[in-house]
Amino acid sequence: MEKFYITTPIYYVNDKPHIGHAYTTIIADVLAHFWRTQIGEDNVFFLTGTDEHGAKIAEAAEKNNISPQKFTDNISTLFKEAWHNLEISNDYFVRTTDENHKKIVVDILKTLKQAKTPQGNDVLYEGEYEGLYCIGCEKFITASELVDDKCPDHNKVPEKLSEKNWFFKLSDFLPSIKEKIESGELIIYPEGRKKEVLGLIKQGVPDISISRSNKSVSWGIDIPWDKDQKTYVWVDALSNYITALEYPAGENFKKFWPADVHLMGLEILKFHTLLWPAMLMALGVELPKSMYIHGFFTIDGKKMSKTLGNVIDPNELVNQYGAEVSKYLILSQFAFGAESDIKIEDFPIKYNADLVNGLGNLVNRVTNMVEQYMDGKIDVDFKDMNLGHEELKQLHFREALLTIWQVIAKDNSLIDQEKPWVLAKDKVNGEAREGGLGHEANKEKLTKILQELTLDLYNIALSLKPFMPKKSKEILDIITAKQIKKPSEPLFPRLQIK
Ligand code: MSP
Repeated sequence: MEKFYITTPIYYVNDKPHIGHAYTTIIADVLAHFWRTQIGEDNVFFLTGTDEHGAKIAEAAEKNNISPQKFTDNISTLFKEAWHNLEISNDYFVRTTDENHKKIVVDILKTLKQAKTPQGNDVLYEGEYEGLYCIGCEKFITASELVDDKCPDHNKVPEKLSEKNWFFKLSDFLPSIKEKIESGELIIYPEGRKKEVLGLIKQGVPDISISRSNKSVSWGIDIPWDKDQKTYVWVDALSNYITALEYPAGENFKKFWPADVHLMGLEILKFHTLLWPAMLMALGVELPKSMYIHGFFTIDGKKMSKTLGNVIDPNELVNQYGAEVSKYLILSQFAFGAESDIKIEDFPIKYNADLVNGLGNLVNRVTNMVEQYMDGKIDVDFKDMNLGHEELKQLHFREALLTIWQVIAKDNSLIDQEKPWVLAKDKVNGEAREGGLGHEANKEKLTKILQELTLDLYNIALSLKPFMPKKSKEILDIITAKQIKKPSEPLFPRLQIK
């Protein structure tokens, strides 16, 4: 792979960022860092941003008594700040209210208006839409999806809409999309999600309305040939993945498209795996290579919600643990793709176990011994063992971390077993040490053990780079120095747990 382009969903700005948005963004960050170490900084592009149009945002602005633009400016800034605090390394932050984005979306719409489907039909056609619309989801929903007449996700009765809309002839694209998914040209991971999409295609997916009447949505991009209509937010939003690269003529578009990985949560799978590929095909643009879908997590068994008051603000975690540790704690909770639960009381326990007693302790012990017994000088052939690389290439973050932590555990028990401090003494209480190897042999064995430990630490630090770039550098600086010294402050100070 000579370039790597990774994206997160662009987040709605109806509310400030929470730990769910942070999760996807952290995954993208780790992967971007990883590929930068493999193919070079310039060959990686990591995109995130905010999705700022539509009825949901306009409603939120109205509630706050400010204009939608002012409102989205404020919340978008909160996302930028949160990512800055978490030390997220995105190369660009796209906003759907950016002039450049809006201009390119208009061009995209104009191209779609002229385009034909594989069957020779117009891609866009005018039709009458009658249906139920949930503003929370920003989508039309069917009666069968309702629970007690309400949208189950938003617990609200959807609006009844009947209006003239522009429709996208999605049905004509489904056979080619199916083929590309089946052949692996478009990878959908995990396998279960791929089956889900293929199942949807088999059932048949109705054409999708890609505009809304100005009467129902006033905050959005005008349909260029029909000023009574605004562009459907999902068409506007999905386009971000190419507008940010300055499609069609931009250097970044030429260099980085197609996306290598679109990351997202399971709830937006349909838009990404059906509408987005269809839009791209209609535009004559190559499809992304893969989409990685993760599950949602709950907090203490409950869905995160303002009313329950269980929304975790990533900034609070950063205040408590710092950026790198926060990212580690969020990522190491569960396997990618799984739906799982986060227990905030587990964070300090995990911190002490993995970082204080595990990694921090190992760094301390090894550097202390090299300093004490070898005068800080040890001859190590620093070979890269690529710990956890295979796992990371498959997006198995937790497994990559487990591989690293297995080495940490192995080394800590090696020290407990071999007791290098005994080897370092050739005499115990003035007597030759019982079962001792003799001075030279002891020294040789001690050197070997410390060499192995130092080499492992080197590799642990290298493979931690995508996860904790600063801590990784700190460790590498210590052990590759001419003279190794135990750090004066512990790498990870112990937390008192009440
Ligand atoms: N604006 C759309 C996406 C458009 S992309 C072209 C949107 N925004 S969102 O603000 O609702 O963000 C959804 C994404 O945030 C999810 O797909 C997921 O990546 C992340 N998460 C939000 N809550 C989450 C959890 N509780 N758990 C895990 N991820 C979560 O949808």
